[in-house]
Amino acid sequence: MAQDELKKAVAKAALDHVAPYLDRDSVIGVGTGSTANFFIDYLADIRNDFDGAVASSDATAKRLKAHGIPVYDLNAVNELEFYVDGADETNDRLELIKGGGAALTREKIVAAVARSFICIADESKRVDILGDFPLPVEVIPMARSHVGRQIVRLGGDPVYREGVTTDNGNIIIDIHHMDLSRPIDVEERLNQIVGVVTNGLFARRPADVLLLGTHDGVKTIT
Ligand code: 5RP
Repeated sequence: MAQDELKKAVAKAALDHVAPYLDRDSVIGVGTGSTANFFIDYLADIRNDFDGAVASSDATAKRLKAHGIPVYDLNAVNELEFYVDGADETNDRLELIKGGGAALTREKIVAAVARSFICIADESKRVDILGDFPLPVEVIPMARSHVGRQIVRLGGDPVYREGVTTDNGNIIIDIHHMDLSRPIDVEERLNQIVGVVTNGLFARRPADVLLLGTHDGVKTIT
């Protein structure tokens, strides 16, 4: 099965997972990326069964609105039962690397608010130890060199992601070759660097459920 078919299968599985819990007042958190896009397209099929969504990026908000799904500011929402999003890597503890699409900060905020974070990913994203995928860090533009130097001190190789500005007006530095065998520790250390907005490690708040698309079907991992 092609990778897109696996992504579609997990998107559909996520819809089946959340749909029984939605009512006309429910607002759902929606992530960013190609897997999340498949989920949005499935969500459109049941758009009269829930109230609306909170988007983790401008691109996601645009796609939701194009389907006629109301998009709410997170500050206007009392509670979010679910956040559904993809990942660039996941380990068996459901700790993630995210931010390949540069939406990591808003993704982390929506994930922090949601009671249940459902990660949807094809099996190529599953690893034993995080870190083959370069770790994205969102950085205030004027702090770029300072943050780069601090990353080197922590043992990583910082690479400025050319031509990318986040929805928050910031830049992305991707960290290569960093030892991520203790993800919570690295997540906290990186966030202590002045000028870092946040980093793409979701270890302090991992996913609650992983729907993993494999050639043997969708596996539910908790
Ligand atoms: C965006 C993300 C995405 O979830 C991640 O990049 C996975 O994307 P895709 O579903 O296209 O493989 O973190 O910032």
